[in-house]
Amino acid sequence: MNSFELNKILGAVLATCLMLLALNIGASALFAPEKPEKPGYNIAVKEEGAGGPAAAGEPEKPIAVLLASASVEKGQAAAKQCASCHTFEKGGPNRVGPNLYDIIGHERGTGRGGFNFSAAMKAKGGNWSFEDLNEFLKNPRAAIPGTNMTFAGVSRDTVRADLLVYLRSLSDSPQPLPAAADAGAAPANGKPANGAPAKPGEAPKH
Ligand code: HEC
Repeated sequence: MNSFELNKILGAVLATCLMLLALNIGASALFAPEKPEKPGYNIAVKEEGAGGPAAAGEPEKPIAVLLASASVEKGQAAAKQCASCHTFEKGGPNRVGPNLYDIIGHERGTGRGGFNFSAAMKAKGGNWSFEDLNEFLKNPRAAIPGTNMTFAGVSRDTVRADLLVYLRSLSDSPQPLPAAADAGAAPANGKPANGAPAKPGEAPKH
């Protein structure tokens, strides 16, 4: 190889390097990354008033919205996990837990053929609203500390909504579903969120 040939090769290598450098400068000018003012990532998190984030980080939908698309049939299927402790039919017997016919709108911890409720459940008082029961079924012992319902809870909000519409259907006069418009902290169907009776004159059925 003579020196002329070597020069040609070196020249080609040099030209390639220069071209790559030029490309690199050109590309970074074209696709300059936008630098954020603060280093780090922007994570958009929807803050929810009550209830906290749903299981697995899904944004939690208001129960009224979930109820609107819930299924009685799916709820009935999901209620199999309750059947070891509860019966659902009208006049059904109490087991480890009380019979659950006509539970929504009913006073907490009373009636049910003289079922022996925990002091915690009796002390809670008030009527079971959709919201209350949703909270209770999510995590019974967090919602009513000291409850005798030794059940882990149903973490999926859609399954809880199915259960709620199923429970609602088990009634001679099913409670009206909460309107999606006043979902959230606002009381549904005119009831305060703590579940006090809607109409004081209306005694709960036993
Ligand atoms: C391991 C048994 C067990 C399982 C499983 C269970 N529960 Fe219960 N449940 C109880 C007991 C016991 C009570 C009474 C709690 C108390 O007195 O504190 C109760 C109470 C309740 C009440 C309140 C009744 C009232 O009259 O105030 C509701 C509503 C209820 N359960 C729904 C359910 C649903 C829905 C499921 C299934 C998703 C379920 N439970 C699964 C044992 C169970």
